[in-house]
Amino acid sequence: MADEVDALSSGRDRLPRHVAIVMDGNGRWAQQRGLPRTMGHREGAKAVRRVVEACAARGVEALTLFAFSSENWRRPRPEVEILMNLFVRTLRSEIRRLDAANVRMRFIGDSGAFSPTLQDYMAKAEQRTSGNTGLTLVIAANYGGRWDVAQAARQVAEEVAAGRLQPADVTPETFHRYTCLADLPEPDLFIRTGGEQRISNFLLWQLAYTELYFSERLWPDFTADDLDVACSAFASRQRRFGQTSEQVACGAQDDHA
Ligand code: FPP
Repeated sequence: MADEVDALSSGRDRLPRHVAIVMDGNGRWAQQRGLPRTMGHREGAKAVRRVVEACAARGVEALTLFAFSSENWRRPRPEVEILMNLFVRTLRSEIRRLDAANVRMRFIGDSGAFSPTLQDYMAKAEQRTSGNTGLTLVIAANYGGRWDVAQAARQVAEEVAAGRLQPADVTPETFHRYTCLADLPEPDLFIRTGGEQRISNFLLWQLAYTELYFSERLWPDFTADDLDVACSAFASRQRRFGQTSEQVACGAQDDHA
């Protein structure tokens, strides 16, 4: 794919164009301080602001944050309610600043499960910032990688049933167009904070060739310096997309990509 050829040809020391983050460790951050878990989420929102600013300042094109997974509904009801309130409050308080910073906001996930108030804030944030040309900030909310693949498959099936697509046309490239984030460069760098080394149903389709980076830092402690360390680790890796390291070294491009 064009992104892969671009990533190969432009060398090893490039900034990731698209960073995707699992922001883990809020609960433990709070528990370590004898605070309720929800205080960790509140501190986590401050880390979101720091990392958004840092990505925008460094020229990262897209940042996708896993804010609420389709499995997070299983948490204790008071924690879910506090998270929902935090999303509303954060959107209300940050949207002006994000807009002024030329950030374009997007949401991915099954937003129909959220309260009408939250859905309204999400829609307004997207509308207000839709013309911005700086960092694209994607918030994954009630999102799951399997849900994403299933909703893409459903759309493809509908296209086939309507005769607009032939079964033989369903290739990885066509299928990709129906998945979330299809209009953005594929994630180059995946970061998970909090010490666990799992993908946890995030961007399953999109992470096929993404470099994975795991940080011990709990999300509320994650700083712009930590982001730089992750970006340096990314820059030191050789991305091969199925080729040999010799092919990559001599700049060969994959005809099958
Ligand atoms: C995982 O940590 C974190 C979450 C499920 C929520 C993430 C939400 C925020 C960072 C709040 C603000 C976000 C936005 C976009 C405004 P955990 O609770 O699983 O931590 P633990 O593993 O230590 O228990």
